[in-house]
Amino acid sequence: MKKTIVLTGATGYIGSHTWCALLAAGYNVIGLDNLCNSMYAVVERVATISGEKLHFIEGDVRDATLLDSLFSKYQIDAVIHFAALKAVGESVEKPLAYYDTNLNGLLNLCQVMAQHTVKTLVFSSSATVYGNPESVPIVENSPLRPTNPYGQTKVMSEQILHDLELSDPDWRIGYLRYFNPVGAHESGLIGEDPLGLPNNLMPYVAQVAVGKRDKLRVYGGDYPTEDGTGVRDYIHVMDLAEGHVSALSHLLHKGASFTVNLGAGKGVSVLQVISSYEKACGHSIPYEIVARRPGDVPAYCADPSLAAEILNWRATRDLNTICADSWRWQNMNPNGFSDA
Ligand code: NAD
Ligand code: WQD
Repeated sequence: MKKTIVLTGATGYIGSHTWCALLAAGYNVIGLDNLCNSMYAVVERVATISGEKLHFIEGDVRDATLLDSLFSKYQIDAVIHFAALKAVGESVEKPLAYYDTNLNGLLNLCQVMAQHTVKTLVFSSSATVYGNPESVPIVENSPLRPTNPYGQTKVMSEQILHDLELSDPDWRIGYLRYFNPVGAHESGLIGEDPLGLPNNLMPYVAQVAVGKRDKLRVYGGDYPTEDGTGVRDYIHVMDLAEGHVSALSHLLHKGASFTVNLGAGKGVSVLQVISSYEKACGHSIPYEIVARRPGDVPAYCADPSLAAEILNWRATRDLNTICADSWRWQNMNPNGFSDA
């Protein structure tokens, strides 16, 4: 019998790609999102990719009545919880909004899940929990030292879930710490579509490549890295999506709770991203090197070996594939889902 999964934050960047991967793996999916940072058009695109009729509910994870009626109506096997606010800078300006959505949303969801004895959960955590790491590649038992309210909400969420597991061993939880998710579905139908000015490197590069922005500002050329620019572990969003399918399968087959890094395990500099993107789009990408961005870490990457061991999962798509897929999405949809 098909298992039924509730996906919160389903129309967001990672949620939409995971929705595709779950449908391809044969799950029933109920997508929930309040559309505060995504658009309904995503549902239509995921339907086109999967060739299936989708089940989507527009609603807020903090709405206990809504969740209760959802869990009463359907036999749910597990939840993947993506819904959260995620912009680091905004979290410094609006900490209460971040604690409200990210923590009250989680508390509410877990309360309703417990009432309906659904105790299998995959949680979106982040490499941001490590802050500025003591050593790289980063292993999962490194100290947790978040440097902003957004990162705090992820550490606190993990703590809440650990306490929940201690109180009731029936809970089975996968804590997935993502490194830098990038790229897009190979169809070019879904991808990252930030509202306004992109905060992150890859969507900014994509918008310069497609002519929506003049040039990229490279934050810092004097880091102690090979070419002086910041180094990150970029992971293709479809590799990440497949990591969720593996995590879910592990938990649904009665595997124990676990915490893993999901990264490619390879450090890539800003200049390497630009060069690979130039190959993908076939023209040069104007950039200028400016001052470092406050709060940025010079370099980090994941040690992803625990995910390989526990989940038999590893990232398979390289930087050139990431840039080619990102470019296909950006070129087909210069204005993101507003074109849909
Ligand atoms: P996203 O903003 O694209 O997706 C999150 C979705 O959640 C959005 O569609 C938004 O509308 C929805 N949402 C927000 N608040 C909600 C609420 N109260 N009720 C219902 N829906 C709500 O972000 P994403 O990049 O897809 O991130 C998904 C998850 O992964 C988040 O938990 C994020 O913190 C985590 N994460 C993201 C990254 C990254 O760089 N993208 C890295 C590490 C971890
Ligand atoms: C990557 C590199 C920048 C933009 C952030 C969050 C983190 C996580 C993922 C959720 C850095 C450089 C960037 C630009 C640039 N999110 N850069 N010009 O900072 O590693 O991680 O997103 O959990 O919490 O902090 O990602 O893409 O912003 O930056 O030179 O216009 O690109 O300095 O070296 P980051 P990023």
